[in-house]
Amino acid sequence: MKPETRFVHAGMQPDPFTGAIMTPIYQTSTYVQEAPATHKGYEYARSQNPTRKALEDALAEIENGKFGLAFSSGVAATDAVIKLLAPGDEVICANDMYGGTYRLFSKVFERFGIKFVYVDTTDAGNVKSAVTPATKLIWIETPTNPLMNITDIAAVAAIAKANNILLAVDNTFASPALQNPLDLGADIVVHSATKYLGGHSDVIQGALVMNNAELREKLYFIQKSCGAVPGPMDCFLVLRGIKTLGLRMKAHCENGSKIAHWLRNHPKVGKVYWPGFEDSKGYAVAKQQMKGFGGMISFELKNDSVDEAKRVLSSTHLFSLAESLGGVESLINHPASMTHASIPREERIKNGLSDSLIRLSVGIEDADDLIEDLKNAIG
Ligand SMILES: Cc1ncc(COP(=O)(O)O)c(C=O)c1O
Repeated sequence: MKPETRFVHAGMQPDPFTGAIMTPIYQTSTYVQEAPATHKGYEYARSQNPTRKALEDALAEIENGKFGLAFSSGVAATDAVIKLLAPGDEVICANDMYGGTYRLFSKVFERFGIKFVYVDTTDAGNVKSAVTPATKLIWIETPTNPLMNITDIAAVAAIAKANNILLAVDNTFASPALQNPLDLGADIVVHSATKYLGGHSDVIQGALVMNNAELREKLYFIQKSCGAVPGPMDCFLVLRGIKTLGLRMKAHCENGSKIAHWLRNHPKVGKVYWPGFEDSKGYAVAKQQMKGFGGMISFELKNDSVDEAKRVLSSTHLFSLAESLGGVESLINHPASMTHASIPREERIKNGLSDSLIRLSVGIEDADDLIEDLKNAIG
């Protein structure tokens, strides 16, 4: 089956009681048992829910994996992966990634004795050099939020395999329509399903997908023991979102390409970060491991001042000034004060995230209308 067909049908079985084509929203906390421990496979909704099951099957299918697990947020999915570890374990992670992931690692899990080593993962050699006998996990995000850095998943997977280390890849920016990390050797795919999977800015959710049954059991144990599960209504919304993922990603990629090129030619715009430029550092790897370059773009203004960036950020009408990304509507964001405010300024600047950087989540509106909006705002 081609991906577009899979997105429409993944996880869907007609409802056994009514034949309903859409999996019903099983809004229940518990299930009646015939006798103690005699039941239909559903005991309590933190552990199992039929709407969540349909979604988890769909997640597995669209990421070419065997098992899917849904969580109450992307951060909760990340949290579950780190809970596989024990005090003393080390994680090698990217020095450019979503600020909330950095906050979870540095402010929560470091206190529990887990060590996080931040390296520039765009060069797999840096990952290799950082491996120690205590390394248990490599965590990468590609493309990264917000600088669109590209890491070679297959190259890092080879290092992980050779050293018996788990590799987790945050695939939120690419979505399964553009990139499938398990096919490239990753052990766990992570998603903020809040973004492209949901696609309509109406739900917070996270997802993990994996192939290894033992790993699935460990993560399922964490999911039910820690309890960060999504409600059935939210599962329904993501199931519905996935159906149009193929169509939406085509539109995001087309609009993203037009806007990235337009920005690059604008006299007041400085550096534009988008992995589809042939002269960008990650282009060759992105072209190889992705089916498209997506709709996420960051850029700097030639007048590199925070005031000028704030003026532009407050002047758009179609691009709404808001955190988040991946919805059908375009968003504009200021990483330094919004999505990445939890990263200390020094760290941010060192890794190339300037105070004036502007991030766009290009939606599926008409590209000319979006360009007109940016033209008026940039001036
Ligand atoms: C790349 C990436 N990973 C993870 C997350 C966290 O997801 P959530 O906001 O659903 O908890 C985000 C949120 O913006 C993100 O951009």
